[in-house]
Amino acid sequence: MWTGDRHTLMATARNYIAGEWGEARRDFEVLNPATLGVLGHASVATNAEMDRAVDAANAALGVWGDDSKWSWVKRAAVVDDLVQLVKSQAEQIAVLMTKESGKHINESRADVIEGIHMLQYCAGRGRMPIGEKISSEIPGKEAETYLSPRGVNDVIVPWNFPFAIITWLLGPSVVCGCPVILKPSEETPLTAEFLVYLWDRVAKKHNVPPGVVNLVNGFGPQGEYLVRHEGTVGQLFTGSSAVGQGIKQIAAAHHEKFAVCEMGGKNSMIVLRDADMDIAVNAAILGAHKTAHQRCVSPDLFIVDELVEPEFTRRFLEITERVKFGDPFDPDSFAGPLINQKAVAKWVRHGVKVADEGAEVLLWGIADHNATSRSNFVRPNVFRMKYRPNTFALREEAFTPNTVIVPVRDFEEALHVANDTHYGLSMSLITNDYRKMREFKIRGKAGLKYVNLPTIGAEVHLPFGGMRRSGTGMPSAAWLFNYLCHATAFTVNYDREIKMAQGLSAKV
Ligand code: UN1
Repeated sequence: MWTGDRHTLMATARNYIAGEWGEARRDFEVLNPATLGVLGHASVATNAEMDRAVDAANAALGVWGDDSKWSWVKRAAVVDDLVQLVKSQAEQIAVLMTKESGKHINESRADVIEGIHMLQYCAGRGRMPIGEKISSEIPGKEAETYLSPRGVNDVIVPWNFPFAIITWLLGPSVVCGCPVILKPSEETPLTAEFLVYLWDRVAKKHNVPPGVVNLVNGFGPQGEYLVRHEGTVGQLFTGSSAVGQGIKQIAAAHHEKFAVCEMGGKNSMIVLRDADMDIAVNAAILGAHKTAHQRCVSPDLFIVDELVEPEFTRRFLEITERVKFGDPFDPDSFAGPLINQKAVAKWVRHGVKVADEGAEVLLWGIADHNATSRSNFVRPNVFRMKYRPNTFALREEAFTPNTVIVPVRDFEEALHVANDTHYGLSMSLITNDYRKMREFKIRGKAGLKYVNLPTIGAEVHLPFGGMRRSGTGMPSAAWLFNYLCHATAFTVNYDREIKMAQGLSAKV
């Protein structure tokens, strides 16, 4: 079991290629977003290193992805060992994650638990059915489906769930037999390295072929190099809509490549007039302020029946004003800082644009912010605005603490406002009216829909993915297993002669 102080030992995140750690180059700094102190460094992968990683992954594919050498059960057994190791290191991972991402320690712990759940699910999938027997119209024939791994996957992931999201994409890949090139966010290379470090230990124990998991660090250009690389097939991406759209275009221009992208959202929480106001306000606070509004599922809009809107707004503002955005290790803090100065600038820009559109300013966190302090801590901006089509305020993703309360006449208008975006990731409805719940389930345009809950808090054994600009219609987490293999048809004739289907003559 690991006993050393990993943090001091591994403060320079290295690349990991073909089962070997690369040199500890200090190409860029990793900052603690809360203290602004330097937490470590990371090495940017060169093109030659990325070529080596892709070659190693393709070499591994022929062994790891060959069911006569490594079955689903055997691959999953390696993941099961990884789960045990992650569990033994859970607190260390969470502490490192909080230092690196600024997420509150309670949220980092939840992120690690989510990763454990995903890896447990993946380990279990190794013993689930992997094909179907299908009857033939010719009695002497038997047919079955056989799953064949599609190829090497790039796993390109964001900083906001620096552990769990890697497991959503990497876990199914390795169990399906698809080697991986992981490129974590440049904000959180150390957390990613921790996971790969644990993978390396179980991989060596099980004699896993080198190259099943590779880790390369870098920025946009490194990600693009991998996506364009002739040797990578699956492009498993979570991040912004703009980058995801670029990845989809590159994939579309190539015969074999496919892209599974989870992108932004413009998520709404609808509060109806019969809503339990305690549930509505609690759900709103959790959704809006957890992770300092930096989840792709954070709600930007609170669409509230005008009859109850004054009460909702009063209570939401009252709690928002006292919620503490502070030291992420302090149990009294509710959320930590934004990730970096770019995010702070985005928070200001977004708030100013919403105000410029004529939204009523209810809370102006920007007033408390000292732009010269370089601090990443901010306070929420909250606005109120009636529905108007085509506004920045109601259509563009905030991904920073900016929320808009939209008073509406009734459920129909609420659903219209919630659906009137280009996105479709998460939505929630607060009501006790079971008929409205069903309408919402059927007509709400989002990949994740909740009733009497916040828009955040998905569980990994459900599909996680968005409609329209939020996704590719191929949800990840548990559902990713559906896309990583070719479902091939395998047919055997047990007869002593050939009989053809569809009445086709078999005479030669
Ligand atoms: C993200 O928002 O980027 O549903 C992922 C949730 C988490 C995952 C969020 N389980 O809130």
